[in-house]
Amino acid sequence: MTSGGDAPGMNAAIRAVVRSCAYHELECVGVYRGYAGLIDGDFKSLNARSVKNIINRGGTFLKSARSKEFRTPEGRLKAFKHLKDNDVDALITIGGDGTFNGAIVFNEEFDFPIVGLPGTIDNDINGTDFTIGYDTALNTVVEAIDKIRDTANSHNRLFLIEVMGRDAGDIALNAGIGAGAEEILIPEQDMGRDRLVASLKRSKAAGKSSSIVVVSEGDQIGKNIFGLASYIRENLLDYECKVTVLGHIQRGGAPSCYDRVLASRLGVGAVDALLNGERDVMIGIVHNKVVSVDFKTSLEGKNKIDKDLIRVADITSV
Ligand code: F6P
Repeated sequence: MTSGGDAPGMNAAIRAVVRSCAYHELECVGVYRGYAGLIDGDFKSLNARSVKNIINRGGTFLKSARSKEFRTPEGRLKAFKHLKDNDVDALITIGGDGTFNGAIVFNEEFDFPIVGLPGTIDNDINGTDFTIGYDTALNTVVEAIDKIRDTANSHNRLFLIEVMGRDAGDIALNAGIGAGAEEILIPEQDMGRDRLVASLKRSKAAGKSSSIVVVSEGDQIGKNIFGLASYIRENLLDYECKVTVLGHIQRGGAPSCYDRVLASRLGVGAVDALLNGERDVMIGIVHNKVVSVDFKTSLEGKNKIDKDLIRVADITSV
């Protein structure tokens, strides 16, 4: 099952789970539309051939949803009944923090074995170095910023570019370094509007003719990116200031090779974990090794940002 926001590589993860089941001679059933499909009993038997030609496709062929009904005891009871009626022994769910929160509650109520895979572009899950979809999203963002840079440079403009990451600045920070941004605004660190303006004035004085500022959607420096742009227009007359919100293009597209391999390793790891009697865990990657982490640990606020990266961004943007 895939749940929450889709992420490139979810199909590769489903494929790995289905083929791992075939390899171990286990029956595999796909659940459509995440927890919503679990409540409706929207199931379909899957075999090794059902997942052909999907490793390269973005999105999730099982579809995804954010289900309000699963937050109610009645909704969860319906889901449990469908699992029992279909003789399902265990569930593998691919998603982010909302998905794992749902899994914890469900397991507490029905003692049902669940293993999770981290699938979200935000990279905001604790206990794994990378989430499925994050690498592809970074590449999409860098490619988009490279294009915007052409216009910024041709017209001597300042561009504020909003990227996704509800509560996490990982996309902004890493894509910002990769695309050579002058400033990067992330929720984990409040730069303040005046310091931002002062820094942009300094870089203009240092000879820069255009500027790129990457703004994480979770950053609150200017309430939102358009409010921030108005403030900059009033206080920095050196540049014409433009705004681009990248939005959902960051969630789509063919997964990178890194995400395909990660998803394949974690999908195989999820079936291995269930066969080893593990439950209530997420399968992640730490120092390039597949690991199991209990769901509660995976949800323990991953709001630490790598200070080294901030230093690298500061130094390389002088
Ligand atoms: O959690 C992944 C994410 O893409 C966030 O970065 C973003 O805030 C959110 O999902 C958007 O969700 P939706 O597609 O439901 O608007």
